[in-house]
Amino acid sequence: MNLVERIRELKKQKRAVILAHNYQLPEIQDAADYLGDSLGLSIKASETDADIIVFCGVKFMAQTAKMLSPDKLVLLPDIDAGCPMADMITASELETLKFTHPDAKVLCYVNTSAEVKAYSDICCTSANSVKIVRKAFLKEDEVIFVPDKNLALYTKRETGRDFIIWDGYCPIHADITEENVERARREHPDADLIVHPECSPEVIDLADGVYSTSGMSRYVKESDKESFIIGTEVGMLYRLKEDNPQKEFYPLSEKAVCLDMKKITLERLLSSLEDESGSIELEVEIVERAKGSIDRMLKYR
Ligand code: 13P
Ligand code: SF4
Repeated sequence: MNLVERIRELKKQKRAVILAHNYQLPEIQDAADYLGDSLGLSIKASETDADIIVFCGVKFMAQTAKMLSPDKLVLLPDIDAGCPMADMITASELETLKFTHPDAKVLCYVNTSAEVKAYSDICCTSANSVKIVRKAFLKEDEVIFVPDKNLALYTKRETGRDFIIWDGYCPIHADITEENVERARREHPDADLIVHPECSPEVIDLADGVYSTSGMSRYVKESDKESFIIGTEVGMLYRLKEDNPQKEFYPLSEKAVCLDMKKITLERLLSSLEDESGSIELEVEIVERAKGSIDRMLKYR
């Protein structure tokens, strides 16, 4: 049996489900039962009746799945797959910020540790930040938005609300420049440019649309256009091409590679399933507090 067949066999035997983020390596995307963005995968994790969730993504995503399914075994095939942006704020830094704004509510991007979520009132993803702000807060509410300044600025622009913004960012998306846009537009003048809200405001200003990764999928599927410039991590292009073989996709920047997202290989996926390694363990007290912020988000999904 080859690797893929062994994964399939073990998955059936152990009643496991494989959830994979849209940035995963092509072979992992192919092996997954569900492919999605952070919001879609959280919803899947909360609904599955499998005994084991193998989460092919990064740690904050697997932690979110664990919080939503505390009785299930949640495996992250490479336990070191993290998110540099999520590491840009710690729970104690957030606590200090809250101390200087005692009346403020905290909105945290899902790209945060469980500990940071435990100090937050509500969570959001790139797919629903605008909706969450409109529905969960009053206009006069003082809101701290952590950790992604670019998502915060995009949400501010869409909602007209002001936030106390943490200075975090995704190094991969923040590296995409206006020069990348200029060049891509010149090379593919007929293509639509869609970008992720983690990009800088300058890049967002030049785009035809701003979407989460699964939002990009829907946009492309429904569009009459034949070609698209994709302003996000390059793993996304594989998914788009698989779903839309007749359409053309160009990366806005070929350098937009999230190495953490590429840590999970078929070998690691198989060995995690075999020895049940990479189990996500969280302190009960943290889960109780952090889960509230995710549940509040899912109420508005
Ligand atoms: P999505 O929720 O849009 O998939 O984004 C997750 C992420 O980490 C983007 O860098
Ligand atoms: Fe984190 Fe950026 Fe990688 Fe997404 S692409 S997981 S935000 S470092």
